[in-house]
Amino acid sequence: MSVTIIVGSQWGDEGKGKIVDYLSENADIVARYQGGANAGHTIILNNKKYILHLIPAGILHKNVKCIIGNGVVIDPIAFKQEIDMLKENNIDVTDRLFISENANLILPSHKQMDRRQEMYLMKYSVNIGTTGRGIGPAYSDKISRYGIRVCNIKNSNILENKIKNHLIFYNESLKKYNDSLDLRGEALDIDEEFNTTHQYCNYLLPFIKNTSYYINNAINKNKKIILEGAQGTLLDIDYGTYPFVTSSNPSSGGACIGAAVPPNKINKIIGITKAYNTRVGNGPFPTEQINEIGNILSKRGMEIGATTGRQRRCGWLDLVALKYSVMINGTTEIALTKLDVLDTFDEINIATKYIFNSEKTDIFPVNDLDNITPEYTTLQGWKENIVGINRYDDLPNATKEYIQFIEDYVKVPIKIISTGPDRKDTIFKE
Ligand code: GDP
Ligand code: IMO
Ligand code: MG
Repeated sequence: MSVTIIVGSQWGDEGKGKIVDYLSENADIVARYQGGANAGHTIILNNKKYILHLIPAGILHKNVKCIIGNGVVIDPIAFKQEIDMLKENNIDVTDRLFISENANLILPSHKQMDRRQEMYLMKYSVNIGTTGRGIGPAYSDKISRYGIRVCNIKNSNILENKIKNHLIFYNESLKKYNDSLDLRGEALDIDEEFNTTHQYCNYLLPFIKNTSYYINNAINKNKKIILEGAQGTLLDIDYGTYPFVTSSNPSSGGACIGAAVPPNKINKIIGITKAYNTRVGNGPFPTEQINEIGNILSKRGMEIGATTGRQRRCGWLDLVALKYSVMINGTTEIALTKLDVLDTFDEINIATKYIFNSEKTDIFPVNDLDNITPEYTTLQGWKENIVGINRYDDLPNATKEYIQFIEDYVKVPIKIISTGPDRKDTIFKE
């Protein structure tokens, strides 16, 4: 039995896509457990870039079966676009991609609502900076118990009624937002919305499965399973920097709920950790560097959002935050990514303490981050090109010291080190 959770340790974009693809070489099943098309998971293989939003990053391995779990919110339009992209690249998904019948749907109206809510909050300068993919409204519907589920697609009468009721309800709410934002016109053309939504929902039909039984049968047959998270722990609705978070549980607990895997079946929890920190959207970011250092990280790391094309904010690695993330997730090992991005620095800072209420602490005060100042430990840079190194022994000593420093602080071994975006730019450290 082998079930591994892949979880983002920071604010997302840690390189989960790359590591899931790398580990899928030896996997039977990869299941996404939460989030939706807000995610952008990049895989680079033979100089070709693939960006996946909904479909698990195991899909590039033809013998791997992929599941979009019950915890995911599925936008049928985004799903079809992704299937088309894979088809163009001769990647066949027939009989190896399944969608949980318990997953909830994202309709165009959810996306419109997401954007309206952001515009509304922006009036008071408290908007979240969402991806605009309808995530918050879709999860709100799920929790309020009037969401539309994938299983509803199987009964066209139920589906029609649900979509119509949803549109009538959303139209009223959207009109209120439009009025308060001085936007003119109807919020939705109900007939047009209905036709589009209905047509795209039907496209999902051949992929629908009872994935709860499917994945548990596979576990009982000792299959190797990867549970792929989206976003990151600090964007978790419960443990993240609320309200500047997403609307699901990216942290490891969410994997059991979102993929129908009981907690006692989990063997490994790998925290994907960028060698520095980034964040897209608004909210606190203690180690952010709005200066030349941030510019270097941004440029060398090519820190542009894979979903929205927004510039990612950049800063030094924050070990206080990472240790919190390790605690919340029960991380058993770390995959350290984008280490090569630090190649040119003479010195590298790492936050090892916070000053909070005039006292030093190594506790992450998740609800008080505006009132802390990070304290840094400075390590020597290695000033060597490490891009593409795939043997641990070939790394410069100063790089090994950087890795060791992180391990000693968080007390979790770093077993995978990524030195470039390509699948082969990876060190597996025993
Ligand atoms: P995810 O959302 O966690 O899957 O991460 P993203 O795909 O959004 O962002 C990670 C970016 O860094 C992508 O452009 C990857 O191709 C790239 N990347 C991943 N690992 C490395 C690495 O070790 N070095 C460098 N330079 N780039 C990497
Ligand atoms: P991956 O899986 C980084 C951020 C948004 C915003 C907040 C809420 O690629 O790591 P949402 O649209 O979810 O309601 O936006 O969460 N966000 C991400 N940031 N990586 C992601 O996914 C993200 N998905 C959402 O920028 O701050
Ligand atoms: Mg991403």
